[in-house]
Amino acid sequence: MLKGDDVFKKIIAHAKEYGFIFQSSEIYDGLSAVYDYGQNGSALKNNIKDYWWKSMVQFNENIVGIDAAIFMHPTVWKASGHVDAFNDPLIDNKDSKKRYRADVLIEDHMAKLDDKINKEVEKAAKRFGDSFDEAIFRQTNPRVLANQEKIDSIRKRFVKGLEENDLKDLKALIEDLEIVCPVSGSKNWTDVRQFNLMFNTQMGSLSEDSNLIYLRPETAQGIFVNYLNVQKTGRMKIPFGIAQIGKAFRNEIVARQFIFRMREFEQMEMQFFVRPGEEMTWYKHWKDERMKWHHSMGMPQSLYRFHDHDKLAHYANAAADIEFEFPFGFKELEGIHSRTDFDLGAHQKFSGKKLQYFDPETNESYVPYVVETSIGLDRMFLAILSQSYNEETLEDGSQRVVLNIPPMLAPIKAAVLPLMKKDGLAEKGREVMDLLKYDFMCTYEEKDAIGRRYRRQDAIGTPYCITIDHQTLEDNTVTIRERDTMQQERIPVEKVKNVVLEKIKYKV
Ligand code: GAP
Repeated sequence: MLKGDDVFKKIIAHAKEYGFIFQSSEIYDGLSAVYDYGQNGSALKNNIKDYWWKSMVQFNENIVGIDAAIFMHPTVWKASGHVDAFNDPLIDNKDSKKRYRADVLIEDHMAKLDDKINKEVEKAAKRFGDSFDEAIFRQTNPRVLANQEKIDSIRKRFVKGLEENDLKDLKALIEDLEIVCPVSGSKNWTDVRQFNLMFNTQMGSLSEDSNLIYLRPETAQGIFVNYLNVQKTGRMKIPFGIAQIGKAFRNEIVARQFIFRMREFEQMEMQFFVRPGEEMTWYKHWKDERMKWHHSMGMPQSLYRFHDHDKLAHYANAAADIEFEFPFGFKELEGIHSRTDFDLGAHQKFSGKKLQYFDPETNESYVPYVVETSIGLDRMFLAILSQSYNEETLEDGSQRVVLNIPPMLAPIKAAVLPLMKKDGLAEKGREVMDLLKYDFMCTYEEKDAIGRRYRRQDAIGTPYCITIDHQTLEDNTVTIRERDTMQQERIPVEKVKNVVLEKIKYKV
């Protein structure tokens, strides 16, 4: 995968040029951290959703899917803890007037120290060659040890500051580490203060406080409040899961990195309800399953890693992220959280309605524990886009930009390209289109030289180009060109559908 700021800029430009992602309200100069998906982007996004939904709901007999409303009763957010605790600690630089998340400034500082360690390791690996023992080097090299010690002590103080909501010490830590504002270069910081991330609006008549409602900051609560409805109407037996895909909204103050951190985004979440005491077994199970899901798409496994949380959210007793190596480094892609009985317990208390399960095997009633898997759809999109983007120099010296999107997720699966419009080739092309378009997404193009048409399809990640030429009229064969190898093969028209279907089928 290509890396670095320049590559990331190219990916953003490519996403716009080829109809994947546009800035929201662009003609009005855009709306910050809000994006629209274009013709190819929405197709790719739908394919990711479809693969996730099928992997959860269709391939697991004990998981069902729902679609809850975005607006919910305001007490939901009081019960869930979001009104009181869904905050980011913010700090401003007085000289640049730029606002930052205090936790991110400190995490970035630790990441820089970690980079230093990795560079030492890389250098030593090169120097010692095959005889290099990384574990021993990490345990003995004085520079590595010194940096690791710094990271450990910063982390200890940082986690304590967050857990105890000690905003004074978070500021003191930033000052002690001599963190400077990347814009002004100064250390002239304001105090750290908490900022709630939920958007709110009024429902019905304005002005009355009781009409204040929130745009959901996570889809999970729509599942919790429907837990009993689904369990009863679906006659679900524990352990079972409820999955959902939908929009979530967060007033992110530091919204950066394109669609990585947005104010309106989509989540694909699954809450798995289990017997109390069994949650750690299921937590491990879902960590493994979700990593397998990521690997099943065929992107390099080295791009993924687990990261256990330093500070647990108010609802969790264990949590890990699946991180992905984006062009700007390893960052969170998905969270797996053991949420205990926090949410159902809180909704039971605030609503006054029992949210218990009678377990026929143990003859007991209890509030189930929950293991959650939560992935940002837009982040998954960005992971695929950034991993897929490649610039190649071909044998003849020419260049191509190709998106090596996993074929099952590609927006368009096959392009039908008559070599020319005349001599009946266009009509034959339309015939081939009709043969394929009911089974998968196809496109038809007859303009421009064939090489240019191939490049356009490469640039949007189409796995197959099917060319109709004069020989097609004689023996009903076409050439089929594969995107990644650019190899061409002549095959009978009636075989095309199966070749494409074989390539794009889900490989779980
Ligand atoms: N229900 C649990 C929950 O919402 P989270 O870690 O806050 O947990 C889950 O969010 C996932 O949602 C993240 O791993 C990320 O992929 C995605 N996500 C969170 N905030 C986002 C944002 N502002 N923009 C895009 N994706 C976001």
